Amino acid sequence: MKLTAQSIKKDFPRMGKNRNFFTAVQTLDFEMEAGKVLEITGRSGSGKSTLLNMLAGMLSPTSGKVLLDGTDLYALDEKSLARLRNEKIGLIPQGHTALLSLTVLENVLLPSILYSRETPPEERARKLLTDVGLGTLMDAKPNELSGGELRRMAVARAMLMRPGILLADEPTAGLDSENVIGVLSLLRNAADSGACVLLVSHETEAAEYADEVYVMDNGKLSRKESSLLS
Ligand SMILES: Nc1ncnc2c1ncn2[C@@H]1O[C@H](COP(=O)(O)OP(=O)(O)OP(=O)(O)O)[C@@H](O)[C@H]1O
Ligand SMILES: [Mg+2]
Repeated sequence: MKLTAQSIKKDFPRMGKNRNFFTAVQTLDFEMEAGKVLEITGRSGSGKSTLLNMLAGMLSPTSGKVLLDGTDLYALDEKSLARLRNEKIGLIPQGHTALLSLTVLENVLLPSILYSRETPPEERARKLLTDVGLGTLMDAKPNELSGGELRRMAVARAMLMRPGILLADEPTAGLDSENVIGVLSLLRNAADSGACVLLVSHETEAAEYADEVYVMDNGKLSRKESSLLS
C-alpha cells in the first residue's frame, strides 16, 4: 500500500480586522511507503496535525490531491471515503475520540462493528489492549481512564483492522518512558509487518524508531538529514 500527497496545501480563514487567509501547510509533496516509519517533529502550531489530517482523509486540502494506491481520497463521496478510511487507515488523532457509553474493549472493537459483517475480532482487541498495558481495564468506561490510558486505547483501536496506513498524532503524549517505548515498538512492528506509518512526535526516543525524520516549520516541511539524527 502507498499513500501519496501531491502538491497539497491548506489555507484556513483568519477572522479579524482584515479578514484573510492563513496558510497552515504550504504546498508540498509527501509519500508514505510500506515498511517505513516516518516521523514529523516541529513546534506547536507549525502545521503537523493539519498535514496528518489531510493524509488521513479527514481534512480536505485547499489544493492538491491525496492518493491511496492511486485512489484520490477527496474525489470519493463521503460514504465511500468513510468506508475506505475505516478499512485502510488507522488514525490516532491528537484529541480524545472515545465513546463514553462503551467500554474500553467496545471502543477498540468499534472499527470492526461499524462496517464489517464478520464477527468482531475480540481476541485481537484483547491482545492489543494487553500490549498497550490496559489488560485490566478492558471492561472499564473511558471516563474512568487517565489521559495516558485513553491515548493507549486510541493506539489499540487504530491498529485493530491491521490498516495499511497508520497515522499517529503524538500517540505518546503524556506517557511515561516505559509506555512511550511500548507504543513506539507497536508502531515499529506494524511497519515491519508492511504498514506505512507516520508518527508526529516530540519525543527524542521516537527518532530511533523512524526511518526518516521530517521537520515542520511554519507550514514548511523539510527532511532532517540522517547525520543530524540523534
Ligand atoms: N480548523 C482550523 N481553523 C483555523 N485555523 C486552524 C484550524 N486548525 C488549525 N489551525 C491553525 O493552523 C496552524 C497549524 O495547526 P496544527 O494543529 O496543524 O499545528 P501542530 O503543528 O499540530 O501543533 P501542536 O504541536 O500544538 O499540535 C495553527 O496556527 C492553528 O491555529
Ligand atoms: Mg498537532
